[in-house]
Amino acid sequence: MQFEFYVPTRIIFGEGALEELKSRALPGKKALLVTSSGSSAKRSGALDKVLAALAAQGAECVPFGRIGANPDLPTVNEGARVAREEGCDFIVALGGGSVMDAAKAISVTAPNGKNYWDFVAAGTGGGMPVKNSPLPVVAITTTAGTGSEADATAVVTNPATNEKIGFVHPGMFPVLSVVDSTLTYGVPPQLTAFQGFDALFHATECYVSNKANKMSEMLSLTSMGYCAKYLARAVKDGRDEEARDGMSFANMLSGMVMTLSGCTSKHGMEHALSALSPSLAHGAGLIMLAHAYYAHMISVHACDDRFVAMAHAMGAFDASSPQDFLKVLDALMRECGVANLRMSDYGITPQHFPALAKNAMSSMKRVFLNDRVPMTEGDVIAIYQKSYR
Ligand SMILES: [Fe+2]
Repeated sequence: MQFEFYVPTRIIFGEGALEELKSRALPGKKALLVTSSGSSAKRSGALDKVLAALAAQGAECVPFGRIGANPDLPTVNEGARVAREEGCDFIVALGGGSVMDAAKAISVTAPNGKNYWDFVAAGTGGGMPVKNSPLPVVAITTTAGTGSEADATAVVTNPATNEKIGFVHPGMFPVLSVVDSTLTYGVPPQLTAFQGFDALFHATECYVSNKANKMSEMLSLTSMGYCAKYLARAVKDGRDEEARDGMSFANMLSGMVMTLSGCTSKHGMEHALSALSPSLAHGAGLIMLAHAYYAHMISVHACDDRFVAMAHAMGAFDASSPQDFLKVLDALMRECGVANLRMSDYGITPQHFPALAKNAMSSMKRVFLNDRVPMTEGDVIAIYQKSYR
């Protein structure tokens, strides 16, 4: 059994950790400050704290508050243009996964070219080498979902081709990440659930992946345990400090797990959904697919013992069959109020399924290779159909 553990990000974790930023060495003198197009970071006071920390160290700051959910290619390219023209030498990402991923994509593009898609090594991406080191990124996460603060992946949608591709480059690990669960207190209940399930599924997919190893398994099982224990509590009471801290921890572990192992085809199938319907949150799409997806993997006996182990990790200590995992999963979705999400609410119809399957299997081929039992196009379409409401 082999693995390589390379997570070179300095992570400052804990309630109130953002206060630490002002006393930590910054990787440059002029930051592109990437934030969302909403005002949550301003409302929570996090933006003021970040600005104060930059000012305290004499760093200049160029604001770029244009990132929406499911960040798109034109916005990334615009961010890179601003960073280049303003002479920014590092990037600060303050926000959730979309903001952190956009910041990473900007960090690759700004010193290397004008079009991020030239470097994306999948789908219609150009696969050009990243010759110059990406700009260093400081990530300050305000959600507990994508694990982007602890991995080297950026997920960006190209609206011209309807592709949503996760691109990995070792230069995209943030140099410094702040994981301060108090910044997640204002996340509304449903978004908390969507993001928390994303974290959970990073752990479950990486555990059933053929890339799993002893190190990733340890982190995966711990993350699942924290999600099972704390996600519903965080959904029900956003100011439950212990639950928020637990979910921030689980999410960070899940980010590391993705660098050690790899997500499976469910992530590819979801990317196709939210590329088609950008208003669909990534976590919501994953939740819609989850039951049918895992039922399929259990039906082909992809790894029966691993499903039992996941049920154990999630608190079903008397679990003895792979089906017990489905029971625990369904119960958690019900408890979090997300058991009845419908694709039809997002304009997705069964007529889309053949094209979605093709899109998923080409643009996210990388994760399909991680399945223990390879998916056929027919399997993918059948899972979409069974997930449809
Ligand atoms: Fe994800």
